[in-house]
Amino acid sequence: MAILITGGAGYIGSHTAWALHELGEEIVIFDSLETGHREAIPEGVPFYQGDLRQEGAFEPVFENHNIEAVVHFAAFSLVGESVFQPLKYYNNNVHGTEKLLKALADHDVRAIVFSSTAATYGEPENIPILESDRTLPTNPYGETKLAIEKMLRWCDQAYGLKYVALRYFNAAGAHPSGRIGEDHRPETHLIPNVLRAALTGGTVKIFGTDYPTADGTCVRDYIHVTDLAQAHILALRSLLSGAESAVYNLGSGTGFSVRQIIDAACEVTGREISREYSERRAGDPAVLIASSEKIRSALGWKPQMDDIHSIIASAWKFMETHPNGYET
Ligand code: UFG
Repeated sequence: MAILITGGAGYIGSHTAWALHELGEEIVIFDSLETGHREAIPEGVPFYQGDLRQEGAFEPVFENHNIEAVVHFAAFSLVGESVFQPLKYYNNNVHGTEKLLKALADHDVRAIVFSSTAATYGEPENIPILESDRTLPTNPYGETKLAIEKMLRWCDQAYGLKYVALRYFNAAGAHPSGRIGEDHRPETHLIPNVLRAALTGGTVKIFGTDYPTADGTCVRDYIHVTDLAQAHILALRSLLSGAESAVYNLGSGTGFSVRQIIDAACEVTGREISREYSERRAGDPAVLIASSEKIRSALGWKPQMDDIHSIIASAWKFMETHPNGYET
């Protein structure tokens, strides 16, 4: 029996693929390589290059492998881009997932772990954020992920497809080996941008210094990508042993401001990082911190890499060994 990983060549997908592979699980990766990287896939793992939306895209996968569960990462995930190109996001994320779910129903696959996001909440009502809090996305990216969560709920009712939706807060860091890491084009995320400035002597922009936070910059909940990977494995196991569908937050429960992240990156890298103060970025809430008590108590998940310096150090290791991303 095999586990299909869509988007397994992407940032969080590849870390989850490696974690499952290292456990000796049989995995199959499906990725368009539009944003993912072939180099991020463990050697010897069956790989299918394809687009979710393409008619019959999954047929070879189901013909060649006995798929018992899916971990679904494949999606576009640039919040800013989604605001300007909403249909691109609805088409790939929602319509692509619809195609995948149809294939799962046709092949009687009854378990899926879905890569969701804190962007489903929008501006938070409370901190820390609970899964039961209001979901009111402020961008199309979050809307598409929320639409998929709802689609999953109806597919559970109609076809008995059990799902776990994992709402990530700020995924960060890289595999401790430095073998795989974060390589988005364009890169919009804070930690890789800060580390790139450290590496090249460039400048990092701080988007907004007038937020109602202790130092005026946005506060986020950074969670190490290998801890995210572990959560997917626990979620898969729960579904395969008959658990009901569920939605869980994944965060550390601790917030760091943009300034704190840059200061920590200076300490980790031993370099001065020059900063430039700029306008707020549209749609950024001041503070996003997760309560992850639900998954801690339901599945026994506990982040192992919960020190921000270790998280940044792992990302730095990847950047130092891959100064041009996966092109090196
Ligand atoms: N930031 C900067 N400079 C940069 C990049 C980011 O100051 O060069 C700031 C942002 O304004 C924000 C914080 O750093 O305040 C974190 O920004 P990221 O882009 O790293 O992450 P976000 O919190 O915007 O995004 C994350 C996930 C998204 C998800 C979103 C939910 O990466 O996938 O949380 O709100 F949708």
